[in-house]
Amino acid sequence: MSTLAGKHIVLGLSGGIAAFKSAELCRALVKEGVTVQVVMTEAAEHFMTAVTMQALSGRQVYTSQWDSREANNMAHINLSREADAILVAPASADFMAKLLHGGADELLSLMCLARPIDKVPLIVAPAMNREMWNNPATQRNVAQLKGDGIHVLDVGQGDQACGETGDGRMLEAEEILEDLEAFFAPKTLLGKAVLVTAGPTYEAIDPVRGITNLSSGKMGFAIARAARMAGAKVMLVAGPVHLPTPRGVHRIDVRSALHMLDAVQQQVHGADVFISTAAVADWRPARSAEKKIKKDDSGQTPQLSFVENPDILAHVAQSPRAVSGQLFCVGFAAESHDLLAHATAKRLRKGVPLMVGNIGPATFGKDDNALLLVDEFGARELPHASKWSLAAQLIQDISKRMRVQG
Ligand code: C5P
Repeated sequence: MSTLAGKHIVLGLSGGIAAFKSAELCRALVKEGVTVQVVMTEAAEHFMTAVTMQALSGRQVYTSQWDSREANNMAHINLSREADAILVAPASADFMAKLLHGGADELLSLMCLARPIDKVPLIVAPAMNREMWNNPATQRNVAQLKGDGIHVLDVGQGDQACGETGDGRMLEAEEILEDLEAFFAPKTLLGKAVLVTAGPTYEAIDPVRGITNLSSGKMGFAIARAARMAGAKVMLVAGPVHLPTPRGVHRIDVRSALHMLDAVQQQVHGADVFISTAAVADWRPARSAEKKIKKDDSGQTPQLSFVENPDILAHVAQSPRAVSGQLFCVGFAAESHDLLAHATAKRLRKGVPLMVGNIGPATFGKDDNALLLVDEFGARELPHASKWSLAAQLIQDISKRMRVQG
């Protein structure tokens, strides 16, 4: 379940063309089980109507500090006291400057100023032209807002409504949602670096053909996302998959097992945890033809011979940092039957403290799975659920083991 379910968020809109994304954001928040109270500045109403935001949030929208619907006529107090967070999206350059100076000449800034700072976090999603964003005044304001404990989200990069291209546009609704979810998630891996491998590998036979497997990478990507939500710095080494990179995760794309080994060796030095979910091909063609192997009329088929790929996980698990307990290694065993026996044997063979078993054919490409966590003391089942939910549970489990280890 999302960390946002049941939360009450005040969504503030200041004036900017990115306000159209706030409509989508409001809808997405409501879908996650959030109650959304919209507050708009007068400038915001030039870009988006209160009617639209009311329809999407299912609640009356506040636009004025003189709103007589409030019995005590103190909308700025009442609205800020009941919120789990205030999210201002879009936050214009002017609105951020106002926040910085404690300006309070309309409801939204007044409410931000009046919020109990220790209880109600303030998150802002800046939105502006690239010159405005890069202006030293804005950059100074952003640094100072962060210093004041305000959570300033990144800006997006690309085409802007003004026709220019660069930094400063507001993040997309789903990106803000992801950052907000990460904001509320317990930071059980804060300060830790996690390296994840995911997906299949592709072993070339010739320039147009190769052998691979049915791994979709979904489980590994979900784990990378969950680790980032838990506050870790995450590096994801991905085989050939068609999946978007989870927000805040650094991704390196590779093709073959040898590429993957290379990337892992380069990245593993700084890691505290290595989670090897990739379905690495066990063998590769002994030689990959430079040119396409042509079919001729002889009826003869090409004779392929194979060599074994390096076992990346076993390799890492034998490194001095892993052996001394500085690097916690987790393997995945995709089996078709006898999960417990195979996962137990594989854990010992690979020399890792934790092996996660799953039934490969039942889960490859799917959005759900079931896991069996096997360690030196026995096995624990994580019953059938979405890959996202299982990833979050697995990260919690690994975080606990890290705490025990110190
Ligand atoms: O032996 P098997 O492929 O089933 O082992 C699964 C575990 O070992 C997974 O964690 C997988 O990522 C890892 N592995 C590896 N390099 C290989 C083969 C498997 O890292 N060549």
